[in-house]
Amino acid sequence: MNSNIPSRVRLIDVGPRDGLQNEKSPVSAEVKTSLVHRLQDAGLKEIEVTSYVSPKWVPQMADNHAVMAGIARQAGIAYSVLTPNLKGYEAAVLDRPDEIVVFGSASEAFSQRNINCSIAESIERFAPVVEAARAAGIRVRGALSCALGCPYEGEVAPERVAYLAGLMKGIGVQRVDVADTIGVGTPRKVQRAIEAALAHYALDDVSGHFHDTYGQALSNTLAALELGVWNFQSSVAGLGGCPYAKGATGNVATEDVVYMLHGMGIETGIDLDQLIDAGAYISGHLNRKPNSRVAVATLNKRGG
Ligand code: HMG
Ligand code: MG
Repeated sequence: MNSNIPSRVRLIDVGPRDGLQNEKSPVSAEVKTSLVHRLQDAGLKEIEVTSYVSPKWVPQMADNHAVMAGIARQAGIAYSVLTPNLKGYEAAVLDRPDEIVVFGSASEAFSQRNINCSIAESIERFAPVVEAARAAGIRVRGALSCALGCPYEGEVAPERVAYLAGLMKGIGVQRVDVADTIGVGTPRKVQRAIEAALAHYALDDVSGHFHDTYGQALSNTLAALELGVWNFQSSVAGLGGCPYAKGATGNVATEDVVYMLHGMGIETGIDLDQLIDAGAYISGHLNRKPNSRVAVATLNKRGG
């Protein structure tokens, strides 16, 4: 096996946030909280719970306070939330997140569509958020959206990723997610994008965030592992998509990533059966099957 491949991987389940943000019909705060509980019981140590964005833009996340308040927190688990500006941060801080996430884009057009400002303006907005969070002892992560392609601009060069990563580093963002927002990346391109982020961040502080629109996300995960990346975001039951990236599907399913990693002898600390139960729980509420081959195959086997 490639000697860079890590022996342990840390997964951040972003299902409650990235997954559910795109659901048209309302999901109650109780169901979201219950999903978070099931994820922590399955062994997830990091969970992206919600976002503090405009409820006009993303109605599904309007219950952020209720969801955060409903969680029976466990020691050793980090609960993260998205904050695009100071208004979002000031709302979020009341709910004591362990980490906040500012989300920028490697492409100008997506920055405009997603957060209504240019890349430069986004950094100006993030800077006081990062400063306030760090002063309050809250960790800060930065998403590098459209690192592998943009729904409006098409190809995105690795230089754009390096540029954004440098800006994030400059304002004090502690770690970054190389995000394939629309799931168009392929393995070697993913490696180039990760190397671009590594120009500014240490290996421990770079994670992979792969949507699975074109079915490349597991291959892309393996490509990132080959570079030694050991932090990834994934979404239980493969939930989701971004409201501002038409046609893009959810993140790679956590169940599929865990199955692959365990099969490779890589530790995650996650109980796959309990994770599949968590995915079945939320999929049941959404009246559909989990978007995970591993989950569906396992549930079929159990049923038979
Ligand atoms: P804006 O319209 O430019 O903001 O929106 P504004 O400052 O001009 O304010 C306009 C209105 O929004 C005002 O309300 C503000 O109070 C309100 P009004 O007076 O009209 O009633 N407002 C807010 N309300 C709640 N929370 C806030 C907030 N800020 C302003 N924080 C803004 C700018 C960023 C708020 C808006 O564009 C927005 O909410 N966008 C949604 C972005 C989003 O959630 N996208 C999905 C998540 S990102 C993602 O999924 C990608 C990721 O997974 C990585 C990847 O895959 O690439 C992370
Ligand atoms: Mg995403």
